[in-house]
Amino acid sequence: VRGLFVTGTGTGVGKTVVAGAVCAALRARGEAVAAWKPVVTGTDEPGGDWPPDHELLAAAAGGRPEDVAPVTYGPAVSPHLAAGMAGETLDPAHLLASARQRATSAFLVAEGVGGFLVPLTPGYLVRDLARDLGLPVLVVASPGLGTINHTLLTLEAVRAAALDVAGVVLTPWTDAPSEMERSNRATIAELGRVAVSGLPPTAPEPEALATAGESLPLGDWLS
Ligand SMILES: Nc1ncnc2c1ncn2[C@@H]1O[C@H](COP(=O)(O)OP(=O)(O)O)[C@@H](O)[C@H]1O
Ligand SMILES: [Mg+2]
Repeated sequence: VRGLFVTGTGTGVGKTVVAGAVCAALRARGEAVAAWKPVVTGTDEPGGDWPPDHELLAAAAGGRPEDVAPVTYGPAVSPHLAAGMAGETLDPAHLLASARQRATSAFLVAEGVGGFLVPLTPGYLVRDLARDLGLPVLVVASPGLGTINHTLLTLEAVRAAALDVAGVVLTPWTDAPSEMERSNRATIAELGRVAVSGLPPTAPEPEALATAGESLPLGDWLS
């Protein structure tokens, strides 16, 4: 399987925006790309301007939302709890088969759920899924206060799992970053020994995502 595993420092940090921007930009370049996410929770929650993850990713990569996410749950809680509330347990083998099916001929952009140590079942974490897929990991983080610690902790966890780090993406990264944001970016690059990119502000539509995604080092991640 060729692709990227998109994790982040937590929930709501911009994983879907970054994954969608990568998918939309690659698709606009004519690359075959498939988006995948093991579980989407919170489909009961009223959406704002942004669609649920599997809908945004399907629009960005081209395809159907039900092919992006094999499992969805209504409550906005961790996957292991959402499954438990539905009287179910997620099956890691089933999730892996679903991911591999998505990736047969295309570059796979897999989005995790929440942060890197979120449980999919009580004993199988997002980290374990990332390790079983073996893809290089992209760490998405906020540019603002608190991001150095969250990002370095996540990088340590990814490396402790013996996975390659593709890079860090700070989002949204404006064209007028504050002194703290510029310092955060440089500090993460130095202490994390990692390439740090910024994703510009974008709208959820594929055209806008593709434009934003073009500013990312896609060529480095494709090879
Ligand atoms: N580059 C960006 N442009 C515009 N909005 C962004 C950007 N990055 C993050 N956001 C905001 O952050 C919110 C959460 O992002 P999302 O990708 O859904 O997070 P996650 O997938 O990590 O839960 C988005 O709905 C959007 O409001
Ligand atoms: Mg998301």
